[in-house]
Amino acid sequence: MKVLQVSAEIFPLLKTGGLADIAGALPYALHRVGCVVRVLLPGFPAIMADLTDATVLTELTAPWGEHVRVLQGRLATLAQDAYIIDVPGLYARAGSPYEDANRKPYADNYLRFALLGWVAACLANGLDPHWQPRVVHSHDWHAGLTSAYMAFLPQRTQRAATVYTVHNLAYQGLFAPACFSELGLPQQAYVDHGLEFYGQVSFMKAGLHYADHITTVSPTYAHEIQTPEQGCGLDGLLRRRSGVLSGILNAVDGTIWNPAIDPNIIHRFDAADRSGKALCKASFQQSVGLDVRPDALLFGIVSRLTEQKGLHLVLSTLHAILSRGGQLVVLGTGDSAFESAFCERAAAYPQSVSVRIGYDEAYAHRVFAATDVTMVPSRFEPCGLTQMYGLKYGSLPLVHRVGGLADTIADCSLEDMADGLANGFVFDLFTPQALERALRRAFVLYSRPNDWNTVQERGMKTPLGWDHAAAQYMALYQQLCA
Ligand code: ADP
Ligand code: GLC
Repeated sequence: MKVLQVSAEIFPLLKTGGLADIAGALPYALHRVGCVVRVLLPGFPAIMADLTDATVLTELTAPWGEHVRVLQGRLATLAQDAYIIDVPGLYARAGSPYEDANRKPYADNYLRFALLGWVAACLANGLDPHWQPRVVHSHDWHAGLTSAYMAFLPQRTQRAATVYTVHNLAYQGLFAPACFSELGLPQQAYVDHGLEFYGQVSFMKAGLHYADHITTVSPTYAHEIQTPEQGCGLDGLLRRRSGVLSGILNAVDGTIWNPAIDPNIIHRFDAADRSGKALCKASFQQSVGLDVRPDALLFGIVSRLTEQKGLHLVLSTLHAILSRGGQLVVLGTGDSAFESAFCERAAAYPQSVSVRIGYDEAYAHRVFAATDVTMVPSRFEPCGLTQMYGLKYGSLPLVHRVGGLADTIADCSLEDMADGLANGFVFDLFTPQALERALRRAFVLYSRPNDWNTVQERGMKTPLGWDHAAAQYMALYQQLCA
């Protein structure tokens, strides 16, 4: 089964969030269930730098007249065959793939990512005479136009099936209506049953409308996005397409996220021997200037600092952590209001609160290894990866019951403790009061070492590998190709 994966990011080369982790892990997981995967990526500097054995597959003219070189080669770090779109005028920009240094989205993003979809459609349509994908699997709005272009390009080969995965419906790739005429799509695509969305061009809607099958990254989120509350205006379309919409829960790459072999942490540990975790905690507390107290319940947050992540709840319940002798460590970057609010708390309580603003992959691993609790109080969360990384590193997740958080974490209620299901702390209402009660449960459990250890060990043993998800994707591809 030949599968082309289309995304804007891929770990470890280029990452702004969980999308990259999934785009990096999925090809290998699919390979293990019998797929032959190639990836298509824009030629961002970090991608170009990793490309080896590159040859020019072809040179083309984009619908808006731009000269395009499509390279074929191998991403060395990932040992992955790849097609790369080499257009320096669009992609050779340092930093974020989406925004300039002032965090302003690039004005030509509609062309930069339309090209990703257009080249994917060309590859589906026989661009490489030696490699014809049966399935084209696109991720998020950046690759949303793939299936729209495929719907209108003159068919030269057996049509590939299309899968579109929504990693976050809130980021839609909306552009001014004037952009449409440059995309090279026929006028009949710019309609409500197409990619027109309240007078704008929506790349997300294109993916949702034209793909043969839509997946999202957890079963609960697949239901949630069909409701007006979480549908971001697209719930009607998603309800209409519910027969071809499913949720496949993300998984964890155990070669990257495993405290027994993690090169980023000083003291390794596993579920059977967690003594290294206490050492990680002590050395971390010391290195960031927190009081070195083994008994201080240490909460951690590794997150984009955006409204989605429910961080105002953390700010308004910080007293509930500090008054019980707890500590908080934050690693994140994002909205400047959140950045300064967390920095102010760190300045006010230096022995109990430590904040690092920025993006730091190695430090993230150290936070999961050192902390007792990983907080993910998101307002909504399509899947969420940090609660799963927390589980693997013995840092019990404390989460809001939404999306993938609801699908992965069971609260330490008495019945779920008794049934051996509990692996964290879950709150239902999105209020400071509800979060505070969950915080209290964490402190109470911590005061009962036997119970804490049972839950921690169980959490570390939770099967989170890719095998199940890969088998589900494979079954879907086979069904679409049958
Ligand atoms: P989202 O994709 O919505 O940001 P996820 O939980 O799915 O949320 O994935 C976030 C990913 O980004 C995780 O791999 C997490 O460790 C990582 N991450 C988030 N913020 C930072 C940061 N400041 N430094 C390093 N890694 C981060
Ligand atoms: C998105 C979502 C996150 C999910 C990630 C990977 O960024 O916000 O919940 O885990 O994609 O699928």
